[in-house]
Amino acid sequence: YKKPQVVLVDGLLVMPGTLRHWEKIKSFQARPDDIFIASYPKSGLMWTTQVMNMIKLHGDVEAYKVDKTLIPFLEFCRPDEEPAVEKINNLPSPRVINIHAPISHISKSILENKCKVICILRNPKDVAVSFYHFHTFNNMLPNPGTWSEFLQNFMIGKVGFNSWFDHVKGWWSLREQPNIFFLFYEEMKKDLGYEAGRLASFLGHDLSPEAIKNLVKQLSFNAMKANMDEKFSNLSSPAGFTFKQFLRKGQVGDWKNHFTVAQNEVMDQLITDQLQGTSLDFCYEL
Ligand code: A3P
Repeated sequence: YKKPQVVLVDGLLVMPGTLRHWEKIKSFQARPDDIFIASYPKSGLMWTTQVMNMIKLHGDVEAYKVDKTLIPFLEFCRPDEEPAVEKINNLPSPRVINIHAPISHISKSILENKCKVICILRNPKDVAVSFYHFHTFNNMLPNPGTWSEFLQNFMIGKVGFNSWFDHVKGWWSLREQPNIFFLFYEEMKKDLGYEAGRLASFLGHDLSPEAIKNLVKQLSFNAMKANMDEKFSNLSSPAGFTFKQFLRKGQVGDWKNHFTVAQNEVMDQLITDQLQGTSLDFCYEL
C-alpha cells in the first residue's frame, strides 16, 4: 500500500479522499439539533466519542464495548467507499458529527444554526508526538519523515488540517457563545468523572454518581485498550493499524521522551508568540 501525500484544497491540507469529495463536504448543511465534536487530530476524539456514548446510555452499561463506528467524521473518505458526508446527510436527527477542519473551513450553517459544538483541546507538544506516531502506523496518512522533520512541519502547519495554533485559536475565539463547549484532554486525565459530568449537563443529561463511577471505570485508558477488538474494524484495511496501536500511550507529558532541549525551546517560544493574548493555557505534565 502506497502512503498518500497531503493535498491542498482552498488553502487547507487534506487527504486525497477528502479532496475528491470536497465540494460535497463544503456544501454540507448542518441542522439546528446537530451536535458537533470539533478537534484537531490526536486531541482525544475517540475518547470523547466513548464518553458521549456512555452519557447517551446513562452510564449504566456494566460491560461497555468500545464502539469506534458510532460517530461519523465529516471530512473522512475511505478510498474505496462513499464519502462520510453522504451517509451523514441521510442520518436521522439528532446527529452527532466529528469535524477536524478549523473554523475558517467549516460549513457556515454550523455557527449560523447555533449548533452545539464540543471542542476538544490538548497541549500541542503531546499532539505533535501523537500525530507523528499516528503517521508512522496509519497507511492512510503520509510518511512523516523523521521526528525532527515532522515536528518542523507541525510547527509551520504543513500537516493535515494545517496549523494546530490556528485551529485552537479559532474555536477559542468563540468561547463566549453558550453553544460552544470546551474539554481539555489534560483535565479529562485528571478527573474524567468531573469532565464527563460537565459534558453531560451541557448536553442536557444528568448522570448519577454511580453512572459516573461506571463511566470512569470503563473509559480509563487501560480499560478501553483491554475491551476493544484487536482490529480497527471498519478501518482495518487500508488503514492497516490496530486499536492497540491507536491507543498508544494516553499520557500527558510523553513529549518529554521525544523533544530535544533545543526543539523544546523553539516550541515554547512559538507557543508564547502564538497564544499571546488569547488566555489559552495548557497543561504539559501531570
Ligand atoms: P497518544 O498517541 O498520545 O497515546 P484522537 O482520538 O483524537 O485521534 O486522539 C488519540 C489520542 O488519544 C491517543 O494519544 C490515544 O492514546 C488517546 N486516548 C484515547 N483513548 C484514551 C483514554 N481512554 N485515555 C487517555 N488517552 C486516550
